[in-house]
Amino acid sequence: MKTWLFVLCIAASPAMLLTPSVAEEKPEAKAAQTFVVQPIGRVQKPDNRTLIVLDKKYQPGLLGLDQWSHVQVVWWFDKNDTPEKRAILQVHPRGDQANPLTGVFACRSPFRPNLIALSLCKVVAVNDNVVEVDKIDAFEGTPVLDIKPYAPGQDSAAEVRVPDWAKPK
Ligand SMILES: C[S@@+](CC[C@H](N)C(=O)[O-])C[C@H]1O[C@@H](n2cnc3c(N)ncnc32)[C@H](O)[C@@H]1O
Repeated sequence: MKTWLFVLCIAASPAMLLTPSVAEEKPEAKAAQTFVVQPIGRVQKPDNRTLIVLDKKYQPGLLGLDQWSHVQVVWWFDKNDTPEKRAILQVHPRGDQANPLTGVFACRSPFRPNLIALSLCKVVAVNDNVVEVDKIDAFEGTPVLDIKPYAPGQDSAAEVRVPDWAKPK
């Protein structure tokens, strides 16, 4: 499997609190702002099925996943991995000009500084290095960074508020 390296620059790391002159004096502080992640697998969609196919070396990490009904899949908006697209900070959500201009941290835009996507999926089956899910809003071939079981106690909120544009129509 082709190995991809993604370099994540986390804007809110403590090193950002340093003044430029201090950061220049401490190159190790600057290096601490960079994180490297590698895909664990890819999305495949053969014959109307949706598969998360992991690199074989990660198969041991799936032990016990078949006991969970849903997973959160963390993936990478690889089609938007250009400096220009990663600089976009405001969008009209869902590409609809009728929706108000909104910060990318206030919507689920595929354009954002760190191209991290998160999708909740129903587990259909877990076999060897493959997790079959009901569906995912990621394209065929999309790199997958992580899989976490969906735990209602931790991952759901009792009372929620959403802006008007995000309400079901
Ligand atoms: C609105 S985003 C939401 C993704 C995820 N559920 C989230 O909230 O982070 C979903 C859209 O991203 C786009 N997309 C899917 N795979 C992509 C990829 N590999 N690179 C860039 N865009 C992608 C598709 O247009 C898809 O409809």
